[in-house]
Amino acid sequence: MPEDDLLNRHRAVLPSWLALYYSEPIEIISGDGRRVTDSRGRTYLDFFAGILTNAIGYDIAEISDAVREQVDSGVLHTSTLYLIRKQVELAEKISELSGIPDAKVFFTNSGTEANETALLLATQYRRSDQVLALRNSYHGRAFATMGITGNRGWSASSLSPVKVSYVHGGYRMRGPFANFSDSEYVAACVDDLRDIVEVTTAGDVACMIAEPIQGVGGFNVPPDGMFGAMKEVLDEHGILFIADEVQTGWGRTGEHFWGIQAHGVVPDAMTFAKGLGNGLAIGGVVARGDLMDCLKANSISTFGGNPISTAGAKAALDYLLDNDLQANAAKLGSQLINGLRDVSVESPVIGDVRGKGLMVGIEMVGPDGRTPSPAAAARLLEETKSRGLLVGKGGLYNNVIRLAPPLTLTEEETQEGLAILTESITVVDKENKA
Ligand SMILES: Cc1ncc(COP(=O)(O)O)c(C=O)c1O
Repeated sequence: MPEDDLLNRHRAVLPSWLALYYSEPIEIISGDGRRVTDSRGRTYLDFFAGILTNAIGYDIAEISDAVREQVDSGVLHTSTLYLIRKQVELAEKISELSGIPDAKVFFTNSGTEANETALLLATQYRRSDQVLALRNSYHGRAFATMGITGNRGWSASSLSPVKVSYVHGGYRMRGPFANFSDSEYVAACVDDLRDIVEVTTAGDVACMIAEPIQGVGGFNVPPDGMFGAMKEVLDEHGILFIADEVQTGWGRTGEHFWGIQAHGVVPDAMTFAKGLGNGLAIGGVVARGDLMDCLKANSISTFGGNPISTAGAKAALDYLLDNDLQANAAKLGSQLINGLRDVSVESPVIGDVRGKGLMVGIEMVGPDGRTPSPAAAARLLEETKSRGLLVGKGGLYNNVIRLAPPLTLTEEETQEGLAILTESITVVDKENKA
């Protein structure tokens, strides 16, 4: 089998900690719309989109043409020492979309680098190495971003260049405020934030960084307005607020273009990556101009915002806006969530269905209806695959199935995915009771 050979070669030369999905990992060799085909010729409907990254889908002519045009020019790279037209155009568009006053944009190659940059800006601006982050957060894999990652499964090192205090407001279902009403929960998180700032920090904290909906942490949705209420505390201390929109940006949450807009607050900076390039390596920070310009030394990303990635990303962003994919995410996302909630009534193996737009989490639990069940999540991953659907996994206990299809999803595909999920859940639910 070609996959088996590739799997052994993968294991021989790639790190052991680079996890692969499935008991029989697959190699995706082609894609079209929301479907991919593996090297054995099996086709799948893709509800994880390369971890929310193929936001528009596969084989999108407008994006491929833009990349091809740049390739055909003979120039793959120039460096940021020279003007890059698509980079400027893309920055103008993102700056305008951000809602941040006088916003400026710096492009990177990944979400990790975007967050590293945001931390650099905030710590230099405030001349402080103190940062607030949320428990169960994920912000990347470099030292500072790992330092602000509050999820044990993704904290490969405790070494950190920043001094971090963790606040509540992330994973609500199993936290100490789990049984509170929304307003009580928000009040408790605001109290906790005030207490942390006053008790554990030196006061002059640089920033708080937060994912509007935790991604890797299991698609945890806080009550609308929570970050707005927390920002009032930050403002009392002059603490900057950074929204990590790596997963929640570009209309994925349906009701808003940026996830943080559900909280009635304009952050000082936002970081982005994943969906922007529809698979091309691009990330970045959009920040208040004075914050972006606060560095007194040179700084450069050789590949950040290069001609290929910005040409493709500009085409992807235009496509997203021209086709109002945010509205599509809102409409189909609620169909998906409502459908899954109906299934969950009959299926005790589902402990929670949550999400916004096309960012939907299914928390799997054991026979007691409460204990996290990573085994049930792993089984559901296999059952959906065998029926032709790719889904993702995450959560603190690796027991949350994550659904995040391309935003171009159709109604028929939503129903098809839902039918596969329903059948698969029924199987796993039976096993769970046995
Ligand atoms: C919210 C969030 N921030 C940052 C990152 C890091 O992005 P990258 O893997 O592109 O470095 C991720 C990746 O999953 C993420 O989900």
